[in-house]
Amino acid sequence: MPAKMTAAEKHQQRRLAWFRQARFGMFIHWGLYAQMGRHEWAMQNEHWPLHEYEKLAPTWHPKPGAAREWAKLAADSGCRYMVMTTKHHEGFCLFNSALTDYNAVQLGPKRDLVAEYVDACHEFGLRMGFYYSLMDWHHPDGMRCKRSEPARRRFVDYIHGQLRELLTNYGKVDVIWYDVSYPLDAAGWESEKMNQMVLELQPDIIINNRNQLPGDFGTPEEHIRAEERMWEACMTTNGSWGYAPIGQQWRTAGEAVDMLRTCAAGGGNLLLNLGPAPDGSLPAPGKRLFKQVGKWLTQNGAAVYEATDPVPPIQPFTGGCTAQGNTLYFHCRRWPGTKLVIGGIANKVKSVRFLGGAKVKFTQTPDQLFLRGLPEKAPDPLATVFAIELDGKPKGRGSHMTLPQPKTLR
Ligand code: GLC
Repeated sequence: MPAKMTAAEKHQQRRLAWFRQARFGMFIHWGLYAQMGRHEWAMQNEHWPLHEYEKLAPTWHPKPGAAREWAKLAADSGCRYMVMTTKHHEGFCLFNSALTDYNAVQLGPKRDLVAEYVDACHEFGLRMGFYYSLMDWHHPDGMRCKRSEPARRRFVDYIHGQLRELLTNYGKVDVIWYDVSYPLDAAGWESEKMNQMVLELQPDIIINNRNQLPGDFGTPEEHIRAEERMWEACMTTNGSWGYAPIGQQWRTAGEAVDMLRTCAAGGGNLLLNLGPAPDGSLPAPGKRLFKQVGKWLTQNGAAVYEATDPVPPIQPFTGGCTAQGNTLYFHCRRWPGTKLVIGGIANKVKSVRFLGGAKVKFTQTPDQLFLRGLPEKAPDPLATVFAIELDGKPKGRGSHMTLPQPKTLR
């Protein structure tokens, strides 16, 4: 830590320590919208009037033990934390709130679904985050707060009050994950005060950046871009956050493994989403995806969890890199056959192995590394990882077009 850090910055670094090493989390979007199965914005997108949409509350009857199933899958898949929607934009609270009856204990499920989620995370040793939407389509002041000060006062008291409930009634919470701050600004939401309260109630918590303040970490959505500070990319597995059995455009486990590599290389985390069905069961393709990623991580975790050192610009068509210390991990996604060429490593290569396995024959010229005698078929169809031991921290050579070229190429 640089000596000049303020007490608040030091505190922030301490709070973030587990998160920096977590790498992989499971995001759960669950609410009344699951019954429609057409994206969590269905109420808005299809213009459902409130009195019609509200009819979804008494008809929601999830099976018992759903959260256990998610948490078990998350833990088995190598996730180290989960984040669940405690209230999405629709306004229905999955927790017991004294501030509204529009909640899962009063209506429909007649159970505290957040309490069940919390218990499940504890059982499987996962860190636990609460997603909470600031924007609220159900609260009568949720939109008019923008134009009327008395409405804003009531609404902001409601939102702060619910955050207080969430962070008081469920023991230790590791992440508060605000979402959509429309229609107010930071002053309107009283975001400074909000964050102060959150930290008073949960001194070790980390806070995201979606209440119009920077918070502790960035949240790129549906894309992965490294930030200077800690960040977490949230990604869907099928283009919808909420349950959407129609369309079925699932991302593959190979793509998820690619995402993990990109996140690790940029020092960030991947929060990968599943939208459970109304009864709480997980869609089969999503379950399969997580299981495959979990199996891959059992073998290749070392190339992802702690491999967050900067990587040189070595990015052939066949794959990409992560690094830790003097080890460069090459994640081969497109298997080229018996010989693999990696250009532009400036270090001397000392040894090459399949990660956790046998040695690999190699030769090296000043600008190219050739891995030889490889099997015809990819040992791991998701990504085969090579651990390449170097004589120092990985260094790249840059584009070979800038190097002296042999005469024949001129
Ligand atoms: C968005 C969407 C929302 C989803 C979230 C996840 O802001 O409004 O439906 O919950 O992103 O990042």
